[in-house]
Amino acid sequence: MRFTHIFTLSVLSATMMANAVLAKQTEADVYYYDLSDQFVANLANCIKAESLRKGIKVKEFNAAGDQLTQSTQMEEDPKTGATLLVNLVDPAQADQVVEKAKKNSQRVIFFNREPSSTVLESYDDAWYVGADPVQAGDYQAELVIDYIRTHPEIDRNKDGKISIVFLKGEKNHQETASRTQAVIRELEQNKIAYEITFESYTNWSFNQGYDYMAAQLTQKGIDKTELLIGNNDSLILGAIQALADYGYNQGNPQKVIPAFGIDAIPEALTAITAGNMSGTVLNDASAMAKAILGIAAAESKDPEEIEKSIGYFISDDHRVLIPYIKVSHRGTK
Ligand code: BGC
Repeated sequence: MRFTHIFTLSVLSATMMANAVLAKQTEADVYYYDLSDQFVANLANCIKAESLRKGIKVKEFNAAGDQLTQSTQMEEDPKTGATLLVNLVDPAQADQVVEKAKKNSQRVIFFNREPSSTVLESYDDAWYVGADPVQAGDYQAELVIDYIRTHPEIDRNKDGKISIVFLKGEKNHQETASRTQAVIRELEQNKIAYEITFESYTNWSFNQGYDYMAAQLTQKGIDKTELLIGNNDSLILGAIQALADYGYNQGNPQKVIPAFGIDAIPEALTAITAGNMSGTVLNDASAMAKAILGIAAAESKDPEEIEKSIGYFISDDHRVLIPYIKVSHRGTK
């Protein structure tokens, strides 16, 4: 009885200490890898809105795709003790950020561009908010396979296999390889007869998606393209723009090349509603912003406490993965 009492008291005081360690966080510095990235710009809007709701003052930095710029921005920022919200240009630089955070006793929340578990585990106030890229690839494959099975006319040149143009994201991004492998695995397992006629790294960008697709169409013509798959929506929207020059994906249901992306950015949803794009997978920026600011606002470092307040599971290495959701012209699933 006495033992239980002492035990309860010590658990209580340990919890109280964990809660008492941190004062309420009212400031955060957010470092974006590149605000010209459509998904990240959308996420930035969600972070802004959520920070207002949570009463956290946010200062924004844009590295425009350059790691040196990002490191300089972090070095030059006055040591206010503000929470660091970090969308790394180069995920391999995460250890430097953690060192700085540790030295200044700052909380650091990485998001979207994933640091290694070793780095996350090296500091008890380092966190990551992102999503599982394999799930994105699996969901995209389900949409694609469902489309192929219900649209036999997709094989326009009737050679018995589907000619796919595959637009990949950034070469050294965890999501490029995992999303791509997951789609290919599913096509194979479902015994879909296909060939990848063109594929390229196009850095998540609308312009590069457009340029690559336009070049392929000029060189090889439209007959070698029966299906477009992209690691994100921006690439696919760029490629659709190139198809428009050939009169495809412009609202005429007889002239559609099915196109599938990932993110569900507003521009993609508009294209799906207009019938110019066939499906995407929601990379839930609004939920991510809630989780990021939820962790930023937490007055405790205890993962269980934070888990309760943000409503998402936190893994042992402090990772929060927001679930993806399939989106097609039939709605969300
Ligand atoms: C998104 C891409 C974005 C990238 C940036 C991915 O999760 O799907 O659209 O360009 O993150 O890191």
